[in-house]
Amino acid sequence: MPKPKVYVTRIIPEPGLSMLRECCEIELHESKEYPPSREELIKKIRDKDALLCLLTDKIDAEVMDAAPNLKVISTYSVGFDHIDIPEATKRGIYVTHTPGVLTDAVAEFTVGLILAVTRRIVEADKIIRSGQWDKPWNPYFLTGPELKGKTIGLIGLGRIGVATAKRLSSFEVKILYYDLERRWDVETVLPNMQFADIDTVLSESDIVSIHVPLTKDTYHLINEEKLKKMKKTAYLINTARGPVVDTEALVKALREGWIAGAALDVFEQEPLPPTHPLTKFDNVVLAPHIASATIEARQRMAELAARNLIAVLKGEMPPALVNK
Ligand code: DGY
Repeated sequence: MPKPKVYVTRIIPEPGLSMLRECCEIELHESKEYPPSREELIKKIRDKDALLCLLTDKIDAEVMDAAPNLKVISTYSVGFDHIDIPEATKRGIYVTHTPGVLTDAVAEFTVGLILAVTRRIVEADKIIRSGQWDKPWNPYFLTGPELKGKTIGLIGLGRIGVATAKRLSSFEVKILYYDLERRWDVETVLPNMQFADIDTVLSESDIVSIHVPLTKDTYHLINEEKLKKMKKTAYLINTARGPVVDTEALVKALREGWIAGAALDVFEQEPLPPTHPLTKFDNVVLAPHIASATIEARQRMAELAARNLIAVLKGEMPPALVNK
């Protein structure tokens, strides 16, 4: 029996590649950093039974049409907004992702961003390096709000939202959350949590953190109207997907002081160019889409992406199927 053919669009961490090599004939795009061009992707996928892709690979009808044998698209990410799910489902192609294994990494990073922007850690570092620490200690230098006693707003209470809420609870904060459904199970464990509509979350929170997937309903969910509802002293945190926030509106909000600052790991345009208006604000902390970048999470993502793909090729139910 010939081995199934798999196209892997990047050198993913071990044990992912070894697992795939054991059961499949893999063709690897030999780069750790860059995706294949669209032409290359379409050319390479023609005779493949499976695709292991990253969030930087746009997998749409054109790509699927080029691959008549394709049975599974396994993405090395929890988000799957880069894949046209209805088109895959229509063709009977399984789409799988990597939920759960990066939850802790993203939640830890979210807490890091909150502290970095409110306690002005990046600003402080820049001040020393640029020789601007030129006065002795004084009570007013680089002050910021304390978390204890504040209200944190979570937009979206899935796995990452819950993990973030658990960590933030140790700061003795009140947490308001908005989701499509009320999470009684979480409220039972975390009595500091309260369900609210999105406008209440925005208008009553001192920090608003986004944890929704990117869908047609969440695209530009945080727009000018929503940003205007936030407190002037509040901060916006985004570790979900860039297009959930209308960047132009956010730049306007920061310029005109509708909010106190922002910490962003994801952007509508990635990589974000160094000339982008967002880079001009001292009260904005920027990170290059690294919330899940722990060594452990990246290995677990590779393992789960490989397990998903192999399961489908064996005719088994994959551990993390998107299009059920
Ligand atoms: C994902 O998995 O969707 C993150 O954005 C990157 O880990």
